[in-house]
Amino acid sequence: MWVMNAQEIRNAYLTYFKDRGHAVVKRAPLVLHDDPTTLFTGSGMQPIIPYLLGEPHPEGNRIVDSQTCLRAMDIEEIGDNRHTTFFEMLGNWSLGDYFKQDQLTWMYEFLLDVVELDINKIYATCFIGDDRFNIPKDNESADLLKKIFKDRGVDAETADIGSDEDGYKRGIKEGERIFFYDGYNNWWWRGKGVAEMVVGEPGGPSSEMFYRFDESEHTAAEKEKYGENCHPACDCGRFMEIGNNVFMEYVRRESGFEKLPKQNVDHGAGLERIAAAKLDDPDVFKISLMWPIIEKLEKLSKKSYDSHTNAMRVIADHLRAATFLAVDGCVPSNKEQGYVMRRLLRRAIRFAFELGIEQNFLQEVVPVIADMYHDDFPEVAEKREEVIAVLVKEEKVFRQTLRKGLKELSKFDGQTITGEVLFTLYDTYGFPVELSTEEVFKQDMELSENWREEFDAKMAEQRQRSQTAAKGTFKGGLGGQTMQHKKYHTATHLMYQALRDVLGDHVVQRGSNITEERLRFDFSHPEKVTREQLDQVEEIVNREIAKDLQISFKEYPTQEATGPLGALGQFGDRYGDTVKVYSMKDKESPADERPFSFEICGGPHVDHTLQLFEDGKKFKITKEEASSAGIRRIKAVLQ
Ligand code: ALA
Repeated sequence: MWVMNAQEIRNAYLTYFKDRGHAVVKRAPLVLHDDPTTLFTGSGMQPIIPYLLGEPHPEGNRIVDSQTCLRAMDIEEIGDNRHTTFFEMLGNWSLGDYFKQDQLTWMYEFLLDVVELDINKIYATCFIGDDRFNIPKDNESADLLKKIFKDRGVDAETADIGSDEDGYKRGIKEGERIFFYDGYNNWWWRGKGVAEMVVGEPGGPSSEMFYRFDESEHTAAEKEKYGENCHPACDCGRFMEIGNNVFMEYVRRESGFEKLPKQNVDHGAGLERIAAAKLDDPDVFKISLMWPIIEKLEKLSKKSYDSHTNAMRVIADHLRAATFLAVDGCVPSNKEQGYVMRRLLRRAIRFAFELGIEQNFLQEVVPVIADMYHDDFPEVAEKREEVIAVLVKEEKVFRQTLRKGLKELSKFDGQTITGEVLFTLYDTYGFPVELSTEEVFKQDMELSENWREEFDAKMAEQRQRSQTAAKGTFKGGLGGQTMQHKKYHTATHLMYQALRDVLGDHVVQRGSNITEERLRFDFSHPEKVTREQLDQVEEIVNREIAKDLQISFKEYPTQEATGPLGALGQFGDRYGDTVKVYSMKDKESPADERPFSFEICGGPHVDHTLQLFEDGKKFKITKEEASSAGIRRIKAVLQ
């Protein structure tokens, strides 16, 4: 049976919107040279931002493309059935032209009548509104969606969800198909959260599209992750987001939200995910822009995808990403984009060892990837040989490195190998810890008892360095981690703890926003904070800064950090398996004493708190106000 494959879906989408007056534009490269705020193109709208803000687009006011994207923050998470670092985002834009009605009508017509997805498996979301900013509930989109479903014989009921947390409590009921969510889920700008929007950024309410696979399509392990009360935006995997219609009509100003001069549409949909929905298989690695790589790996390794799923997914994802980076002129190096590219390649090679592939294999796999794209992206065909050469060269260098590492390791014969030694091998020779421990084992050498902790501590330090390099790649986000940001970030941690000390443990962070000029912090508290209480908070923060607390972090399993260790976090945040916890601690205090501040956070921070007092500055709260029901907002400065 013929089933529309990923390439056909991409071309059908471009044609569909071309037929509706859109100019088909070329994808932007993964590395945007004129955008210093991000390392990589992380969403289709990123190259379009100037036009959403009002600059005329040379191709007119209806644009469509398929934008290659890279989200490098997700590298360690690759391996499940739907996350990839590299993906194509099908995007169409109205630059002050059509709005909700056309966008929703067309997009659903495309999904339901052109791609012919099963309407019974499609779910939608809309923005619930936010009184704080006078932004109304998006009933208009919900009504349009109801009609779209109704015209195809489905009665779609609406339901108010609110936050993710509310969703987990409530779940969804039979017949409900359109769900209203808050400004964390259904508001789009380059960062996260309506209240967190940075001045000058465009954004707006969004309406997302989800596909719900039959339970029988999921593996037992995937089903185990199901939430008890799932709802579409729940990330357990039962629902898969396939696209997002953003109605971009606001810009954030210091004073509030202003309407942009024109209403825009920013739509982005994951090509790989739509292709998976079309196959009705939640595993995106089964689609036509992935599976040939897996087949090649099966052939080279003589192992099956079923028995080596994780390793094959990592390799397929990373090599697609590295191939496109090479097409876009990136070369492996130790800095910025080149560093990410090197990590992707080395991880792919490391996972190849798990498949028993110990010889050079990129020259076999990269051509398979080039073949999947060369018809639709002529630059892939043009640069084919060059790209293969760049990647193969890095593989050779890495394998030499591995040999050197082995030699280095053998020098420790007769000694206990510590985590620090393993880290040095990793850091200097790029020798992956999984390989070195295996080697240690093979050669009958001894590993120190805490090698894992020793190694992890070193790794965490290094990760912070690379995260600082990869700043802002999250969701195509923002850069700007200057010293001033770090100082305010550190002050925020101190203030959070001080607020709990003064007001009580019901104080939980609900939002935070930092600029070079001030910090802003939202937290739960039922009433106005008195000036006296604010003075106390100020005093505590200044007192702790004066102690010159030393700042460090460590990674912990999430359950341990949030459970017995009682690290502070932010309400509603969901964390991965491990989290980084920052401690701010008096160096004179006993080792087993609890640090003044102990908080889950990605960083970065200053190294010690006296840096906040540089130039004779002191911490000062300048404003306290209501943010919404039960939530207070504080602004504070160092001055
Ligand atoms: N820019 C929107 C997104 O990336 C469409 O989800």
